[in-house]
This record gives sequence, structure tokens and C-alpha cells, in this order.
Amino acid sequence: MFETLEKLQPDPILGLIAAYNGDPRPAKVDLGAGVFRTEAGQTPVMRAVKAAEKTLLDTQTSKTYTGSEGDAQYNAAIQALIFGADHECIRDGRVWTIDAPGGSGALRVAAWLLLRAEKSKRVWVSDPTWANHIPLLGSAGLELKTYPYYDVATRGINFDAMLDALNAVPEGDTVLLHASCHNPTGADLSHKQWRAIADVLERRHLLPFLDMAYQGFAGTVDEDVVIVRELAARFPEMILASSCSKNFGLYRDRVGALSVVARSADEAAASWSQAVNIVRRIYSVPPNHGAAVVATILDDSPLRAVWIDELDGMRARLNANRDALADALAAGPAERDFSHLRRGYGMFSILGLSPAEVARIRDEYAVYMVGSSRINIAGVTQANLAYLADAIAAVCAPG
Ligand code: LMR
Repeated sequence: MFETLEKLQPDPILGLIAAYNGDPRPAKVDLGAGVFRTEAGQTPVMRAVKAAEKTLLDTQTSKTYTGSEGDAQYNAAIQALIFGADHECIRDGRVWTIDAPGGSGALRVAAWLLLRAEKSKRVWVSDPTWANHIPLLGSAGLELKTYPYYDVATRGINFDAMLDALNAVPEGDTVLLHASCHNPTGADLSHKQWRAIADVLERRHLLPFLDMAYQGFAGTVDEDVVIVRELAARFPEMILASSCSKNFGLYRDRVGALSVVARSADEAAASWSQAVNIVRRIYSVPPNHGAAVVATILDDSPLRAVWIDELDGMRARLNANRDALADALAAGPAERDFSHLRRGYGMFSILGLSPAEVARIRDEYAVYMVGSSRINIAGVTQANLAYLADAIAAVCAPG
């Protein structure tokens, strides 16, 4: 049976975890998969999460099934975190949120919901986008197209090209946008640019599909959803896949959510019933532990304050790391300009190395990053900063 299967290459992001772990060189530096790291290079369980887990251990009375929509308390809490408890789409019953196994699970359910709606199978994603967007959505049956986003020359957004491309997208198609902390570039649209994009989507009747994996990493949790809330008020329909992997540090517990804004409460009810039917056919019910942790934190004011404080600290560390690496590179012999690192948001930036330079820095210096030269800013520490800056300068040196 299985003799027909060819052996595949490791995943371009997750494959780096095993490669890094298997590297015996003591100076190795992990800038690969997007996980937060402390100055000690650890990805700890957050304090608020530990406290919520203790509460759950003491108080949880059952682990019986939820429905396919998952944990009702979590769904309400995460919906309020994203949209704001008094948002008009909640008041009007036009939005629903279901618990999903991570942002990836939410994306997959959204893909099949789009296919069931039988309008357009086409989804437009930024060039570049998260390395798994196209495989994940494409293998569900959607047709993926790209719109220009990042300009390698300026290390920023090619906004005119993006706008022109979206202006030519066929009516009824879906456009995937990163709500904040664009993965892999770290280059985010300004609010003014978001509104200009929204004008195009509205004019051309394009469906906004937001992927939000980093609420609280660019700005505060409320600042990062200003545009999300505006779009939810402005557009008759919208999809939003969100993740608690990063902002609650619950990576392996698989906590995410799919939210859909519909034209009316009736259409919301119909689309919700389709979504839970899809879930039943894939994984039946989502895992609950992480969702219960998130609900416990969000619904307990003191614990929520602890979580916000930790998240603020994580954001501050990422911003400090951006400056530290840009400073170290500017002070070193590398002739290239890395000042764009300072301007990025969230965990990632594209360093600007060629694929050959990415391979060389890994082979010769044990510095691990995604093939596009995306680096995880959280992997920079005071201990590895000088080594890293030297390694980057060495592979960038002409000749
Ligand atoms: C990343 O982009 O590194 C993370 O979101 C991990 C993943 O699943 O790819």
C-alpha cells in the first residue's frame, strides 16, 4: 500500500525545531519557529496560565464532551476580547465564534465553510505570507492567488502595488489579511492604509478574511483590534481566524477560534450550523484544556491583569530585541542596511539574506532561520547577540 508514497522534505518551519535540537554545536541560535523566548532562551508557561491550570485542577468537575462548537465560556470570552463585548455585530446576533484547534484548525474550518458557500473558491493571500497558508487552505480545495505585499528593495510594504492588485481581484473573491504582526515580514499596514484597503474590498464586494495570531504583540490587546472592530462594523460579512498559541503561550494545547460575521442573525445561525457540521466531520469536538485556561483567565479580573502584564512584557522584549539587533548590525562590518528591523511589529522580520546565505549561516554558524530569511526576533538574547551579528556580517560579506 504505502510503497506509492514518496518521502517528503520536513516542514519549512516546524522541521527547523528538530534540526536545531539535533545540532550539537553549543553556540547554536534558534531564530526558526515562531515561539516567544525569554532572555534565558526559554518558552515558559505563562504565570496566568499556570494559575488558571491550578484553578481548573481544583474546580473542574467533568471532562465530558462539549459540542462541536467547543467551550461556550471560551467562545463568549474570546469573542469579547476580539470584537469588544458591546460591538454592534454581537448585539445584532450577526457574529458567531467557535473554539478551534489553534489558528490552523480555524483556517481549515473556514476553508471548508467557504467551499460549502459555493460562491468563489478563490482566496488571495499576501506575497509573501505564512508558509503554511497556501498548503493549508489549498489542500482544503480552495484556489490560492497572491497579491503583492512586501517590497524587498525598501524592506516595507509595496502599498501601491497591493492596492492595484486588489482593485483587479474578481468580485466575490476572498482576501486574506494579517490582522497585525505580518508573518513573515513584520511589516504592518497603517490604519490609513487599512482603511484604503477596506474601501477597495467594499467597492469590489470582496470578502475580508483576517488571520489574527498575534493580538497584543504589535500594540495592546485593544489597540491590535481597532481595525478588526471597524471592519466588523463596516462589512456585511467577514471571517476571522484567531489563535491563542502566542499571546497565551498555549502552542501545543491548540487553542484558537473561528469567528464569522454574517449579514443577518438568520444567516449567522445557518453558517454556524454548517461550521459545526464541518467540525463534526473532521475532529468532532475541539480540545478543551487550553480553551478552559483562556476562559478562566479572561473571566477573572486579577488573573486577566496578570496576563496583560505578561503580554506587555513580551511585547517590550520583542521591541527591545529589534533595536538591539539593528544596533549590533549597524555597528558591525556588514554593509547592508538592517534598519527595517526597528520598524517591524511582532515576532518576525525578513533579514534579507539570500537562500544561499541562509544555508551558509546554518551550516557554518548554526544559526537557524526559515529559508526566506525570516527570523524570530524573540530568539535574540544578550548572550547570542554579538555572535549572531558577526555571523550575519560574515555571510553578507562580499566575495
Ligand atoms: C510560525 O510561523 O513559525 C508559527 O506560526 C508556527 C507555525 O505553525 O508555523
